[in-house]
Amino acid sequence: GRVLLLYGGTSAERPVSLKGGKAVHAALLDAGIDCFHLDPADGLSAIVDSSFDRALILLHGRGGEDGSIQGLLQLMGKPYTGSDVLTSALAMNKLRTKQLWLSQGLPTPAFVVLQADTDWSAAIAQLGGEAMVKPVHEGSSIGMRRVHSANELQAAWTHAATYDSVVIAEQYIRGREYTMAVLHDQALPIIGLSTGEAFYDYAAKYELNSTRYGLPCDLGKREPEVAALALQANQAVGARGWSRVDLMIDQHDTVWLLEVNTVPGMTDHSLVPMAAAAIGLDFQSLVVLVLAETLA
Ligand code: DAL
Ligand code: MG
Repeated sequence: GRVLLLYGGTSAERPVSLKGGKAVHAALLDAGIDCFHLDPADGLSAIVDSSFDRALILLHGRGGEDGSIQGLLQLMGKPYTGSDVLTSALAMNKLRTKQLWLSQGLPTPAFVVLQADTDWSAAIAQLGGEAMVKPVHEGSSIGMRRVHSANELQAAWTHAATYDSVVIAEQYIRGREYTMAVLHDQALPIIGLSTGEAFYDYAAKYELNSTRYGLPCDLGKREPEVAALALQANQAVGARGWSRVDLMIDQHDTVWLLEVNTVPGMTDHSLVPMAAAAIGLDFQSLVVLVLAETLA
């Protein structure tokens, strides 16, 4: 049947979606799949009025990855790729995701919810003097800052609050960052990330060619154990079809779960295509596999 490919969108991650969406569109056409593209930023009536059998969602952030488009497609009775409404909404919210993980005994960095009346000195002390400030509903590190003092914490909150009404400060984990893609409940090889930046930020993710990707990563014999934990974290939020779990491992070899991305990036710098390639799955095969879920 006919596939509706959704990319673009209105979130701060629109450029990431446009880049990946164009590549996915080309791959679908190459595979001989009957498809057409709509951008929800142009309004929803085209989506409601057009005729299609299933949808491939490559929208990142709010209005695309957060359950709202999923809800529209659900009401229309159209199968779509990726997670359902509940999981999409949950995984879009880093605070709710952390609370859920904690309730299941899964490890995630300590955090404080920041507000105008937060005691900045007490908060930074509670987090051990260094923290990552994050808008809870953003992606691609947008609005995030690494801070080392009460003053920086307050300034970072002011900045993050321009992106989101809910902002957290997370304990800074000194160690290495990793990511693991999950495709139809199977773990793909874990990728290690190193950057010369203060953290793996937007520039390191999409713009710099200095970011180094460890694939295979340096976990060696430990990889299956870390993968099992990441799979558990993925299952805890109920992710379906495809997703990517971000995590860190500190200097004491402790694993810390950061978040689950239910619509992972598909740009030429993105991680899921990289992990797929490592097991011999090229970009087009990956796209076809992601889409296959809608046929079930
Ligand atoms: N939020 C970006 C697209 C990612 O996780 O890949
Ligand atoms: Mg994310």
